[in-house]
Amino acid sequence: MDAAAVGKMARCLAFMDSLPGFQRYKTSMLILEMMDPPRGSITADLGCGLGFDVRRLSRLVGPEGRAIGVDSSLALIESARSASEEFPAVEFVQADIQNLPFASGLLHSCKVDRTLQHVERPAVVLNEMFRTVRPGGRVVCAEPDWGTFAIEDAGHAMARQIAAIWSESFRNPRVGRELGKLLEEAGFVNIQVQEALLATPSFESSDVVFDIALTALRLAERSGSEEPLVWLTELRERDRRVCCSVTLVINCARKP
Ligand SMILES: C[S@@+](CC[C@H](N)C(=O)[O-])C[C@H]1O[C@@H](n2cnc3c(N)ncnc32)[C@H](O)[C@@H]1O
Repeated sequence: MDAAAVGKMARCLAFMDSLPGFQRYKTSMLILEMMDPPRGSITADLGCGLGFDVRRLSRLVGPEGRAIGVDSSLALIESARSASEEFPAVEFVQADIQNLPFASGLLHSCKVDRTLQHVERPAVVLNEMFRTVRPGGRVVCAEPDWGTFAIEDAGHAMARQIAAIWSESFRNPRVGRELGKLLEEAGFVNIQVQEALLATPSFESSDVVFDIALTALRLAERSGSEEPLVWLTELRERDRRVCCSVTLVINCARKP
């Protein structure tokens, strides 16, 4: 990613983390409860971005444990490090999560959140999670099913077209639904599934999280038609209430 793309990604991640619906699925509701890392344990967040969840995990494992964030972007790792200086149990490593720089069995638990949708080979990441988690250790994977993505204006063909273009821009748009199979094939057992709805309530929040304006612009350029931009202007002006949503599939499993 170039500097502009990293800056955009960082703004988007910080904005998403501030949304109450996102905080609910990350903390009290699902992911951290499912991981439940004991105090003193070693845990990792794969594709950690700005490190919000690494800091949350470090509070759970305490100063005697370790919370490790892994991300391929050096710029995001550096931001995560500088935001975490007061957290004694936190470490950040720049690496491709398809090749984890950890000894086998090092981790007590591990999670990946909205990152398998981007990687070339999600199955390889699951194999790496299996290798690096110790027997009895827990893993949690949370990924969107972009097939469920909808822009509120769903009766409008343009909304459906823009939602489809956005969804297909991901390398693995359906990986949320494949998690159970991938976990099983990697060797995990006791697989449990939950879902969370990630929704944005306004035009502004929908645009930051789901890039509606840029997607409409791309479609206008590609089709040579003004129609997507007319639709966008109408949507923006419509009372500012526009709801977009996607289902996040969350799987928890254990290494036997
Ligand atoms: C949508 S963000 C999710 C960030 C974080 N999990 C969160 O919940 O805020 C995806 C992250 O995955 C990282 N990423 C993508 N492919 C990766 C790879 N192969 N190895 C490591 N990190 C990767 C990106 O740099 C980005 O920080």
